[in-house]
Amino acid sequence: MANRHYSKFIFYWDIWILVLITYAAFEIPLFVVMQYKPPVIISALNIIVSLVFIADVVVRRRVAHSKGKKYAMVWLLTDVAAAIPFELLIFTGIGLSLVAWLRVIRLVKLFRVYGFKTVWEYRINLNPGLVRLGFFFYILVLGMHWISCGWVNIHDFKEDDPTGLLWQTDLVWKYMMSAYWCTSTVTTIGYGDIHPNHSRVFEIVYTMGVQFLGAGAFGYTIGNIATLLANLDVAKMRHRERVDSVDNFMKSKKLPQGLQERVHHYFNYLWDSRQGYDDATILQELPDSFKYEFAVELNQEVLEKVPMFKGADQNLLREIAICLVPCIFTPGDAIFSFGEVGDKMYFIRKGQVEVVSSDGKEVYATLGEGDFFGEVALLLKQPRNATIRSIGYCDLYSLNKESFDRVISYYTDFEKKIQQMARDRMHSTNKPEGLTLL
Ligand code: CMP
Repeated sequence: MANRHYSKFIFYWDIWILVLITYAAFEIPLFVVMQYKPPVIISALNIIVSLVFIADVVVRRRVAHSKGKKYAMVWLLTDVAAAIPFELLIFTGIGLSLVAWLRVIRLVKLFRVYGFKTVWEYRINLNPGLVRLGFFFYILVLGMHWISCGWVNIHDFKEDDPTGLLWQTDLVWKYMMSAYWCTSTVTTIGYGDIHPNHSRVFEIVYTMGVQFLGAGAFGYTIGNIATLLANLDVAKMRHRERVDSVDNFMKSKKLPQGLQERVHHYFNYLWDSRQGYDDATILQELPDSFKYEFAVELNQEVLEKVPMFKGADQNLLREIAICLVPCIFTPGDAIFSFGEVGDKMYFIRKGQVEVVSSDGKEVYATLGEGDFFGEVALLLKQPRNATIRSIGYCDLYSLNKESFDRVISYYTDFEKKIQQMARDRMHSTNKPEGLTLL
């Protein structure tokens, strides 16, 4: 539990670090090309960034330690280099240009962003494709900012200034013009109203590089968005395909309309309750080391609902959780009938069932969420003593006979409890001749 809180702390800490890295990645290139005298607020912010990055070194060390790992040397060097408060040199009277280039060292911290992306892909409750695309845009915007800063530095703005007043002094105007040029070039729009000065080779080469990059980034973005949209709801798409093919099949076989509707609604309910995923298949693919934990978390809801499991041995719950198989029944289904051989028992996750007599006329009981049924046949090794009919849609978990026998042979307290319950039920039901509980 403590570990969970800790990882939550790390998650928010990483967000905080990302915000500061982003700020630095915007401010430092601006400082390099404009070499302005930083206003108090910027100086204060820069010092805060240094202090937090120093704290980050301590945090990362503790995180590595808590995981039994070593703080990798490259990361230690990266984090320490990014934390050095070079901005303080401004107050010593050293040339701004040297300070500016020294401050660029801080940008090595951007390598951390890749690590955040990898973790957040599964940590954030969003489609991983969306998280990847978010990071791609993040890098794209940062890249465009740097390209704009480069353009501020190399471009001759004299031609682009109709007033003739801005080009020499107005840094904000210069940056805005550069950002505008960069956006229209990178997005391949290329209005051409701001263009390289044709007598300056370096401007031309720079523009060609950006055009080249822009075409790549543009293609990558469009391709990614298309794939993302196609994959955003893979499960839903698969579900639709499945329903369509079943509907078509039923039509081609001219099955009765009522049956077709029932099947169609069954699939829709299946989607609403499980979103097209099959717990049992996913569970099978997992290694034993976390299969149990996964099963308990997954089936927590139903285990908590069953009063008989209140305060039960954790190992018993784990054993049962791993053996539970989800299943759904539609309104009016006979889940099983009187006299059948019993091979499993059921727990109700959602919905209600009726326990009815063999002729279907008498209702002995109505069972709902957290109740179970079908245990008598397993305990007695006898046919079912009643028919079970679902009232509406029923979301159940079944436990097969083999697992049931194994569990009760290990956990005798549980066996006693379930036997007592079965005995009480037997007394209130018109049991078939000859059935007795030991
Ligand atoms: P089983 O005999 O395997 O199949 C029918 C099930 O109905 C039975 O197990 C019990 O779980 C359940 N059952 C029978 N009688 C009652 C009752 N009176 N109240 C609740 N459940 C019952």
